[in-house]
Amino acid sequence: MRQSLAIGLTILSTFLVANATQNFVFPSDQAGQEKLWNDTIQAILKFKEEFESRSPADVLQAEDGDASLTVPEVILRYGYPVEVHNITTEDGYIIQAHRIPYGLACGAVNEGSPKKRVVWMQHGLMGDSSNWVITGNKSRGLGIGLRKISSTKERITDNLGNYRGNTYSTMHTTLLPSQPEFWDFSWHDLGMYDIPAGIDYVLNHTQAESLYYIGHSMGTTGFFVTMSERPEYNAKVKLMSALAPALFMSHSTSVITRLLVELFVPIIDQVPYVEAFPIEWTKDLAAELCKRGAPTQPLCSIILYLIGGKNEPQLDLDSLPAILGHSPAGSSTKTFMHYGQGIVSGQFEKFNYRGANPDKYNGSLTPPKYDLGKITTPIAIYYGDNDFLADPQDVLRGAREFSTLVNLHRVNDTLFSHLDFVWALDQGTLINKPVMDFMEEFANRLPPNGVAGRVQFMNGLLSMTVILVINKML
Ligand SMILES: *[C@@H]1O[C@H](CO)[C@@H](O)[C@H](O)[C@H]1NC(C)=O
Ligand SMILES: *[C@@H]1O[C@H](CO)[C@@H](O)[C@H](O)[C@H]1NC(C)=O
Ligand SMILES: *[C@@H]1O[C@H](CO)[C@@H](O)[C@H](O)[C@H]1NC(C)=O
Ligand SMILES: *[C@@H]1O[C@H](CO)[C@@H](O)[C@H](O)[C@H]1NC(C)=O
Ligand SMILES: *[C@@H]1O[C@H](CO)[C@@H](O)[C@H](O)[C@H]1NC(C)=O
Ligand SMILES: *[C@@H]1O[C@H](CO)[C@@H](O)[C@H](O)[C@H]1NC(C)=O
Repeated sequence: MRQSLAIGLTILSTFLVANATQNFVFPSDQAGQEKLWNDTIQAILKFKEEFESRSPADVLQAEDGDASLTVPEVILRYGYPVEVHNITTEDGYIIQAHRIPYGLACGAVNEGSPKKRVVWMQHGLMGDSSNWVITGNKSRGLGIGLRKISSTKERITDNLGNYRGNTYSTMHTTLLPSQPEFWDFSWHDLGMYDIPAGIDYVLNHTQAESLYYIGHSMGTTGFFVTMSERPEYNAKVKLMSALAPALFMSHSTSVITRLLVELFVPIIDQVPYVEAFPIEWTKDLAAELCKRGAPTQPLCSIILYLIGGKNEPQLDLDSLPAILGHSPAGSSTKTFMHYGQGIVSGQFEKFNYRGANPDKYNGSLTPPKYDLGKITTPIAIYYGDNDFLADPQDVLRGAREFSTLVNLHRVNDTLFSHLDFVWALDQGTLINKPVMDFMEEFANRLPPNGVAGRVQFMNGLLSMTVILVINKML
C-alpha cells in the first residue's frame, strides 16, 4: 500500500514534469495510456532494483558533496561542531534537533557565555534540518550562513528542529512508523507538541530565558498554532522571523497546492492517514537524475518550480543533488490535507473532521478558527513576490492580524519564490543579511518600539501594493 502510493505519486509528478516541459502529449487511447503507465512503472522499478543492489562503495562514488551525508555530517564537513539531541514530546514522539553550539573561531570557551543568542530554526513541509545547512560554504543555509555575516556570529547557538515524521524524527515511545496511528497528525499537532517541546528543551539546556525563532513555511504555520493555542509560549520567544509564512492559503496557485485540493480534500475523512512520499529511494532517484551533467537535470529544476514558483536566475543547478538528496524528507498525508482544507476554506482553522467535528470540537459542526489575537510575540515577516505557495496577498492578510508585527520585508527580487528562501543562489544577501540585521537591530531596541514597527509595516504595505499593481499591468 505504502509502496503503491509512492509509485503513484512519483508517476503523477513525472506527468506533471512532462506536461510542464510541453513537448509531451498524453496518449488519448487506452492502449497508449496503459503502455505509458507500464513503461513508467518499469523504469522506476528498474531504478529501485539497481539502487538496492549497489554496494556501499558505489554509493560513496555517486555522492555529490552534501547529497548523501546526514545533517550532522554536513555540519562537520563545513568545520562546525554539532550536537544531536533527542527530544520527547508530550504525546510521545521523539524529535531530533541538531545543534551548532558555537562558532569556528571562539571554540568551546564561549559555550557558557551568558550573552549567547539562542536561535531555533524550524523547516517547512517535507523539509528537514538540512534546509539550514546544505551548500553552507556558499554563504547559504541560514544555520551556517548567519555566522558569516553577523558581528556577534560566534555567540549564536543554532538549534535546528525536525518535525515528527521526517527523516530524523521517526521514533515514538509506543508507536512504530508502520502503524497508521503514528501518521495521525497534521501541522496542528506540530504546533501543539513539537515546537513547545523544542523550545522548553533548548531553554532548559542553555539556561536562556527566551530564544529567537526562525521558521520557513510550515515552520511558521506550526508556530502560529503554538502561540495561539498555548499562549504561555509567547513570552519564551523574543522575535519570530517568519520566512514565507503559510497562514492563509486561498491565493495559493502552485501545482502542488492544486494537487492537494484535487487529490486530498475530497477524501479528507475517508482514508487512513499515511506517510507521504515514504520511500528512501525516491530521494536517491532524485539525486541521481539531478547530478551535475545528467541529461535529466533540467527536469529537476522543473520539480522545484512546480512546488514553489519559478526563479531561474536564483536556481543553482550544482546544488540540486544536495537539495534533492535531502528533500522531500517526509511528513503525513494529514498535514497535506490540512493545508488543502485551508486553500478551499480561506481560513486558518483546525482540522475538519466533518461528521466527527461535534465530538472533537465541543458540539461545533465546523472546525474552530485559531485565535491569532492571542499571539503577542514580536513578528518579522519576509515574503517573496513570486511565491506560489505563500502568495503576497495571503501574507498581507495574515500580517494585518498581528498586533505585534515589527517588520514586513519584501525580498528585493521580483521573481523570489517559496523555496528560494532556503536555496536561492543569493540567499546570503537577499535573506540571511536582512534577517540577521533585523535581529541585531531588534535585540538592541529598548523597549520594543511600537511606532518604528508600524512605520516599517506601512513601508511594506506600500511596496506590496506597488508590486501587485505592476503584476496586474504585466
Ligand atoms: C501492462 O502490464 C500488465 C501487467 O503488469 C499487462 O497485463 C499489460 O498487457 C501491459 N500493457 C501493455 C500495453 O503493455
Ligand atoms: C537519538 O536517537 C537515535 C535514534 O533515532 C539514536 O540512534 C541515538 O543514539 C539517540 N541519541 C541520543 C543522544 O540519545
Ligand atoms: C569551505 O570553505 C572553507 C574556507 O573557504 C574551506 O577551508 C573548506 O575546505 C570548505 N569546505 C568545503 C566542504 O567545501
Ligand atoms: C534540564 O537540563 C538538565 C541538565 O541539562 C537536566 O538534568 C534536566 O532533566 C532538564 N530538565 C527538564 C525539565 O528537561
Ligand atoms: C463546551 O460547550 C458548552 C456549552 O456551549 C460550554 O459551556 C463549555 O464551556 C464548552 N467547553 C469548552 C471546553 O469550550
Ligand atoms: C535591490 O536590488 C537592486 C539590484 O537588483 C539594487 O540595485 C538595489 O539597490 C536593491 N535595493 C535595496 C533596497 O537593497
